[in-house]
Amino acid sequence: MAVTILGACVLLFLTQLSYADFPYKENVYVQYVDHYNLMSFGDQTFNQRYLYQDKDWGGDGSPIFFYAGNEGPIEDFWKASGFIHEIAPQFKAYVVFPEHRFYGESLPFGNKSFTSPYLGLLSVAQAVADYTVFLTDLKAYLKAPNSKIIAFGGSYGGVLAAYIRYKHPSLVYGALAASAPVLMQDPKGPHDFFFKHVTKDFRDYNEKCYDKVKLAFAQQLDYARQGQPGLDTMVKKMRLCDKIEKDWPFRLMQMWARNAFVMMAMLDYPYKTDFMGSLPGHPVKVACDTIMAEEDALVGLANVAGIWYNSTGSEKCFNVSKEFYFCADPTGCGNGPASIAWNYQICSDLFSPTGSNNKTDMFPELPWDTDIRRSYCQQQFNITPRVAWDAEDFFGLDLKYASNIIFSNGDLDPWMGGGVTKDVSSSVVAILVEGGAHHLDLRAANKLDPPGVIKAREQEKKIISYWLNN
Ligand SMILES: *[C@@H]1O[C@H](CO)[C@@H](O)[C@H](O)[C@H]1NC(C)=O
Ligand SMILES: *[C@@H]1O[C@H](CO)[C@@H](O)[C@H](O)[C@H]1NC(C)=O
Ligand SMILES: *[C@@H]1O[C@H](CO)[C@@H](O)[C@H](O)[C@H]1NC(C)=O
Ligand SMILES: *[C@@H]1O[C@H](CO)[C@@H](O)[C@H](O)[C@H]1NC(C)=O
Repeated sequence: MAVTILGACVLLFLTQLSYADFPYKENVYVQYVDHYNLMSFGDQTFNQRYLYQDKDWGGDGSPIFFYAGNEGPIEDFWKASGFIHEIAPQFKAYVVFPEHRFYGESLPFGNKSFTSPYLGLLSVAQAVADYTVFLTDLKAYLKAPNSKIIAFGGSYGGVLAAYIRYKHPSLVYGALAASAPVLMQDPKGPHDFFFKHVTKDFRDYNEKCYDKVKLAFAQQLDYARQGQPGLDTMVKKMRLCDKIEKDWPFRLMQMWARNAFVMMAMLDYPYKTDFMGSLPGHPVKVACDTIMAEEDALVGLANVAGIWYNSTGSEKCFNVSKEFYFCADPTGCGNGPASIAWNYQICSDLFSPTGSNNKTDMFPELPWDTDIRRSYCQQQFNITPRVAWDAEDFFGLDLKYASNIIFSNGDLDPWMGGGVTKDVSSSVVAILVEGGAHHLDLRAANKLDPPGVIKAREQEKKIISYWLNN
């Protein structure tokens, strides 16, 4: 194997208090650009960044806790996965978080990475191969042939954790896949759960909140029907920076507004967080209280948007095109270079949920399905989504040949409907996190944690312990 690890290690000095509990060391791994075709880019390599902590490491025979990096800079996931760091000492584990190719600093072709044909090297299969060779080399470097690797991951990272356990059971002994929408990756799997569940979260808090949100979106439509003068009134009420025209700009604005609800439902944690953005504790409750406190539904909707888009308090007006990037994923692609990479992934081999319909959800009718996605992706990237590939390459709905995987899902999390919520076998088990939003169980313990997540973490610890001792 041409690839070897480990240049100089850099110990990062901690400037942010929130990192202080979980300091890490940082390094890069020299990784193949293309695992499957040595003629395409020769044996070209890139620096794949990884974070690790070995202060508790018990040496050969002690476990390696590996987090399958997902769509963003790896330090975000390090920070949002305190559970792993908190349990590492009792297991004497080595903790390692490699960064997903094409995200953060792990860009195989620098700034050219996001253009054709380079972007084509971004795929689930390549990412899983990255982790496979990385972990194989890591075990050799650590001289730890008897150490079991346990994979962890949240959301798409959870999908990767489950996939790598499934495909490489001799390398990875077990996986905790938190809030991982694995069933959604099958074309025959569930896709229409997402906006329904977002709506349920707001409706469960208060029926009047649901009514008011529906009313606000209906009022937007009424203004649009009045033509440009109506749209101008709407822009003023909603404190938008730019004039909005009918058709596409109006629809984009609807998606921008819908996206604030999406983020608050996903990140409905019981305390203030800075993951993917800044939100107060219980943002669904805060949003509902905000919109219900305002008599004018549209002004209320603008105030709710502000919880997400104006968390700094520094926006004079809302700039829809700057704050929301339209892409193949109706649940949002974020901003910056990562959003291009994620858009490409949804256009190539990952699935997204369907859009909203104003019937089973409280949002405007903004349809999104396989056909719409196909034509969008053909236009955007000149590719046709390969919809069944991940289900074929790994698993889809049929998990009976999998083993040693925990699938955890929070009942507040709109992604729950795309995941495994029933035990598949004695070793592929589902854990329901009552009162949990998107992979809350992976986060550090907090005094505001609901009992459901405390219980889930205990169960997870017990199963991991069982894997390691048997
Ligand atoms: C990539 O582009 C950004 C600005 O567009 C620049 O700041 C950065 O230095 C570039 N990086 C590389 C590796 O060229
Ligand atoms: C953003 O927040 C600040 C501080 O609360 C407020 O003055 C401003 O009007 C808000 N901007 C928008 C567009 O709502
Ligand atoms: C909104 O953002 C876009 C770029 O995303 C920019 O071109 C435009 O000038 C901005 N509008 C205002 C009023 O700031
Ligand atoms: C949602 O449907 C209702 C009728 O059921 C309609 O009055 C309302 O305008 C629709 N809202 C949107 C945003 O399309």
